[in-house]
Amino acid sequence: MKKDLLSLLDLEKDDFIHLFELALQFKKRSRQGISDRHLAGKSLGLIFDKKSTRTRVAFETAMIQLGGTPIYMSTQDTQISRNEPACDTARVLSRYIDVLAMRTFDHGLVEEFAASSTIPVINALTDLYHPCQILSDIMTVIEHKGGFQGKKIVWVGDGNNVANSWVNAAAVLDLNLVVATPEGYGVKDEIKAKALERGGRQIVFTHDPKDAVKNADVVYTDVWASMGQEEEQAKRVTAFKGFQVNRSLLSQSKPDVTVLHCLPAHRGEEISEDVLEAPDAVFWDQAENKRHMHKAILETLILANGK
Ligand code: CP
Ligand code: NVA
Repeated sequence: MKKDLLSLLDLEKDDFIHLFELALQFKKRSRQGISDRHLAGKSLGLIFDKKSTRTRVAFETAMIQLGGTPIYMSTQDTQISRNEPACDTARVLSRYIDVLAMRTFDHGLVEEFAASSTIPVINALTDLYHPCQILSDIMTVIEHKGGFQGKKIVWVGDGNNVANSWVNAAAVLDLNLVVATPEGYGVKDEIKAKALERGGRQIVFTHDPKDAVKNADVVYTDVWASMGQEEEQAKRVTAFKGFQVNRSLLSQSKPDVTVLHCLPAHRGEEISEDVLEAPDAVFWDQAENKRHMHKAILETLILANGK
């Protein structure tokens, strides 16, 4: 694998398969009460400029359970907030820690850190991508659907960072992905072009959610206004009418459709209360899988980096 994980386009198909296998193994061993302290003595820095519950805690607990130490820094608490250049901060942190996970608004900042760091840099969400999320989500698809090849996976909602990472994954893994977004909120042409370059020929982009979810194996949604877009919330609620994942929409899908949401969810907006609270809902398994997948990512990048 490459030094950094900034986008799923950084990965080859074999890298995905390796990460799925390792994460599933970590989950199995964790269920058996076996602890793997492969990262004893290593440390993970986390620089977060946006809120997080799952990604932060999943990374921190993954590192602790592997015997390492996480060090969380809100950007505001670092000299970055006083304009210390990324290239200086990255070089200094490379002398202290073994891997760095970052959550920023600007994707370019994560790229700047990666370019100046000698340690691996992991994208823990930017305005552009959320790669680690989709890795654990596909792990959830594997568990619940017995695999991902040939399954119809449908995105319903905003063409946002999570959608972009699905498009990237679909390009590399040749997924049968349909992306349904309201007009004006679609995946950007640049993201589509990169997917085509990587061979993502099965990806369909549409503005018709009802048609999109027909015979779907998996339906995925996310908030209509992402972090940083809070002031657009009211406008988006109007623009996204008809894009709520609810029983009526899902009646077009396969009877055993699996609904996924990266969370946090806005009940009554992108997803109905009854779908979110369904007794057989897998959102909580999906969230748990982030910890197992983060272990796989940390171990792979740290050990591959020869540290
Ligand atoms: N799914 C996800 O990334 O959640 P957090 O924002 O809580 O980390
Ligand atoms: N698209 C959402 C994902 C949160 C995990 C956001 O960026 O806020």
